[in-house]
Amino acid sequence: MSATVRGEAPRESRHGSRGVAEGIVFDEVQFRRADRQVLAVSGLCLAERRIGLIGDNGSGKSTMLRLMNGLLLPTRGRVEVAGLDTVRHRKRLPAKVGFLFQNPDHQLIFPTVGEEVAFGLTERGIPAPQARQQAMALLDRYGCAQWADCNVNELSGGQKQLVCILALLATEPSILLMDEPFASLDLPTRLRLYRRIRALPQLIVMASHDFELLTEFDRIIWLDAGHIRLDGRPAEVLPAYRAQATIVGAGDALTS
Ligand SMILES: Nc1ncnc2c1ncn2[C@@H]1O[C@H](COP(=O)(O)OP(=O)(O)OP(=O)(O)O)[C@@H](O)[C@H]1O
Ligand SMILES: [Mg+2]
Repeated sequence: MSATVRGEAPRESRHGSRGVAEGIVFDEVQFRRADRQVLAVSGLCLAERRIGLIGDNGSGKSTMLRLMNGLLLPTRGRVEVAGLDTVRHRKRLPAKVGFLFQNPDHQLIFPTVGEEVAFGLTERGIPAPQARQQAMALLDRYGCAQWADCNVNELSGGQKQLVCILALLATEPSILLMDEPFASLDLPTRLRLYRRIRALPQLIVMASHDFELLTEFDRIIWLDAGHIRLDGRPAEVLPAYRAQATIVGAGDALTS
């Protein structure tokens, strides 16, 4: 797929891409706050395994992710995720879609790691002892079994972020939405999480400024003032965004 200035559906299926029934569709979507249009996206189909969202602060990345998990509902148009309309099937979305907040403190609600990871399972009707067992097995698989009874507040930011990711994975969603998951992490933690995220089978949509990771993605969408400015492969979109940022940055330097 070559880069397109609008969010057109990919014309050809690529290695690792899925059917739209498992992916995400934005159909003539507008999202307004008060009298202001914050996002307008039409005819967008996301079915690749790794999709990055980039753009300046306030360009609409978090808004777009929140429209995908039903935290925000479109003012006009339709968002469909894994075959579910986010308005009509809002309650069914959490079973399909996991959402990672930028700040783990906005996500973590239980005192201990084990409770946090088990919560999503009990929410889905799994009896508490079985949920605890499954949570323990997951923690063990990621080498974190020793954290099970730890107070989440005693973990570092990166460790908390990992607990959030495990809590999402416990419920086996088919789609993961991640809002700048690495913003506050140190390099070793970031590299460890890259490795874990690379190995995940889920379709992932990630808002990020981390070009090193995004270079490996299948598709990058550049948002500009609530519109798709460019949509294509990392090799096309990332340098274009970087060039634009350099021009804007240089302009500021000249006027300051
Ligand atoms: N709670 C809110 N109330 C009013 N306007 C908001 C609210 N949240 C976001 N906006 C506005 O919506 C627009 C898009 O914001 P959004 O948070 O989606 O941007 P973003 O690309 O995620 O930015 P950042 O890189 O800073 O995280 C911005 O103009 C912002 O001011
Ligand atoms: Mg944001």
